[in-house]
Amino acid sequence: MRYLLLGFAMVAAGAVAETGADKPTVLITGSNRGIGLEFVRQLSARDWRVIATARNPEAATELQALAGTDPDILIEYLDVTDHPGIDALAKKYRDQAIDILLLNAAMGPTSQTAGRRLAKLDFDVARQSFEVNSIGPMKVAQAFMPNVEASQKKLVLAMSSDSGSFVAGSKVAALYHYKASKAALNMYFHTLHFETGRKGVTAVMLHPGMVGTNPQLMRFPGALKTSDSVAQLLVVIDGLTPADNGRFVDYRGETMPW
Ligand SMILES: NC(=O)c1ccc[n+]([C@@H]2O[C@H](COP(=O)([O-])OP(=O)(O)OC[C@H]3O[C@@H](n4cnc5c(N)ncnc54)[C@H](OP(=O)(O)O)[C@@H]3O)[C@@H](O)[C@H]2O)c1
Repeated sequence: MRYLLLGFAMVAAGAVAETGADKPTVLITGSNRGIGLEFVRQLSARDWRVIATARNPEAATELQALAGTDPDILIEYLDVTDHPGIDALAKKYRDQAIDILLLNAAMGPTSQTAGRRLAKLDFDVARQSFEVNSIGPMKVAQAFMPNVEASQKKLVLAMSSDSGSFVAGSKVAALYHYKASKAALNMYFHTLHFETGRKGVTAVMLHPGMVGTNPQLMRFPGALKTSDSVAQLLVVIDGLTPADNGRFVDYRGETMPW
């Protein structure tokens, strides 16, 4: 009888291992390219279960190719501005503990909007920047917080930027909407950490450095390789403890000034 029970237990454990449900799990927004895609690659290599979300999964060919090599990369539709869609995904994964919720997706400055002065500011772009960069991450955090609370690591991470810092941001009249929306994200997360701290969840804002995720950024002197930035961020993330709740840190683990 003892052996029979043990056999059942092993079959059950095998079933769990097959679905990857026993693995540490991360959910990443904007995982079809750039830093998000590299996180998928490096966490998959560590044998994590990766819920890799993208607003256009059909076009995410690199992500699809990666998922073809690892059954524990699960590609899901998630547009951070589609709040009913976010709730639907949270409902689908309601029984899944999520160790790291990585709020990475963002609307960066484009060459058309980056250098605009006051007279040329486009407030449709401003609204969209706040929807994607500030409100979207908070909505995803709201929807998936129970999953994070149910996990081992309990980390909710916002990919911020030095552009959201009064001190570290560039001292020029440029990137208005990007800077303002990342500063708003920082204040949202700063406020959030007073709540997460009471539940054992660690909320941290990250600055990945200047990373060459597109040809324009690659031209900047000192731009990091995407793989190097993510490797260093993972070292930082590995070392996070509840004492880091509310911190804004860069890829070297150094505290960013507000
Ligand atoms: N690269 C840097 O030097 C740098 C520096 C500081 C901070 N950061 C921050 O690091 C993060 C990643 O940067 P990156 O350079 O990898 O950016 P990226 O290459 O521009 O990629 C942005 C990602 O966000 C997605 N996205 C945009 N709007 C979305 C929406 N409404 N819903 C869901 N996903 C959406 C994009 O999807 P589509 O492909 O569908 O557009 C893409 O996957 C961002 O938060 C960025 O602000 C980057």
